[in-house]
Formats: sequence, structure tokens, C-alpha cells
Amino acid sequence: MIISFEGLDGCGKSTQIIKLKKYLESLGKKVKVLREPGGNSISEKIRDILLDKKNLNMVFETELLLYLSSRAQLIKEEIIPLLESNHIVLLDRFIDSTTAYQGYGRGLDIEVIENLNNFVTLNGKYIPDLTFFISLDPKVSLNRVTTRGEEINRMETAKFEFFEKVHEGFQLIQQKNPNRMIKIDGSLEPNEVFESLKGKMEKRIKI
Ligand code: TYD
Repeated sequence: MIISFEGLDGCGKSTQIIKLKKYLESLGKKVKVLREPGGNSISEKIRDILLDKKNLNMVFETELLLYLSSRAQLIKEEIIPLLESNHIVLLDRFIDSTTAYQGYGRGLDIEVIENLNNFVTLNGKYIPDLTFFISLDPKVSLNRVTTRGEEINRMETAKFEFFEKVHEGFQLIQQKNPNRMIKIDGSLEPNEVFESLKGKMEKRIKI
């Protein structure tokens, strides 16, 4: 089973992923968390290129194809073997980030992106069973990013309007895929967010 987490930078995905991992492990499940871009040595190198602030001249088409390359590698090298050995795979970002950031955010053709996502997921065979969209006001999430004390990466140097478009993009993707994608209010306290997420998950899928 694949469960992905989506949302703006600073929306609280990573905290929720850790909580869900612990919960699923307490039920005796084998769980693996992978992050995108990254998750294996080739994809981590691609991640370095994508997030390096020295690469401010990267064109959007290059950016798109690098995210897709990283995903192609992750799916064949990590996700497929993990699923075969009966793991639940928790993904910190996946296909919807590309549609939201490169499609709605950068303005690249959504249909091209959907086709590329379809191509690397082997005709949709490896799309998530469930996706949590942690929804948070772009102002709040960006404020978290700039105050968390970590250096900001190339993607985070974008203008505020970009993140607003990405946020709207996630809403639209969720509306288009209501069966797979569940919207979670990320403005609550982390334990409350988790309770809501767990409740909604247990209604949708049998763990
Ligand atoms: P990261 O530091 O992992 O951010 P976060 O903790 O918010 O996930 O950086 C990943 C960045 O890459 C983030 O700004 C979102 C962006 N991204 C895309 O633009 N397209 C994609 O397909 C993916 C997977 C990520």
C-alpha cells in the first residue's frame, strides 16, 4: 500500500508522517518512509541539483523533468521492492506535488505533467492508494518555513504568489480526485491533525 502526503512547504507533513509511521508500526505493520525528491542515491543527487540555490537559472522544463527522473528511479529502485516485501510505503510528496508546483505554480501544461506522471508510475500502477493533502494558509506555511531556522532552498526562494497558486492547485487536484485524496485541516495542533487524519484514513481503507 502507498500513502502519500502533500501540501505546501511548512504545512506539517513531516510531523504527521512520523506519527502515522509509529501508529502503523504499533499495529505490527512494516512501514517505510521515503521523501521526494530523493529516497535513494541517484534521486538524492537529483535533489541536490533541484534545491541548490546556485541553480537559480534552471528553466521550468528542466525542473519538471528532474522531478520526474527522481520519481522514476524511486519507483523502480525502492517502491516496487518494498511493496513486494509487504511494506506500507509512506511518501513525503509524490505525483501531486509536480502537478501543483510545476503545473499550477510554474504554469507548465497540466496534461503533459499528468502524462509524465502516468509514464513513470507504469501507467498508473503505482499511484497512491490514499493521499493526504495537509491544507494550510500559504501565509502561515511560508512563515513557518522562514522562521524554522533552516536555510531556504531554491524552490523556497519563489515569490509568495507562486505558493498561492500551488495551494490553489492542490485544492483543485483534491476536488478532481476525491476518492484518493483527503483534505486535512493543517491549522490545528499536531495531535489533533493526526486524530483527524487517522479517523479519515480508517474510514477509507482497511489497514
Ligand atoms: P523539501 O525541503 O523536501 O520540502 P518539504 O519539506 O516542504 O517537502 O523540498 C522539496 C521541494 O521540492 C518543495 O519546495 C516542493 C518541491 N517539489 C516540486 O516542486 N515538485 C515535485 O514534484 C516535488 C516532489 C517537490
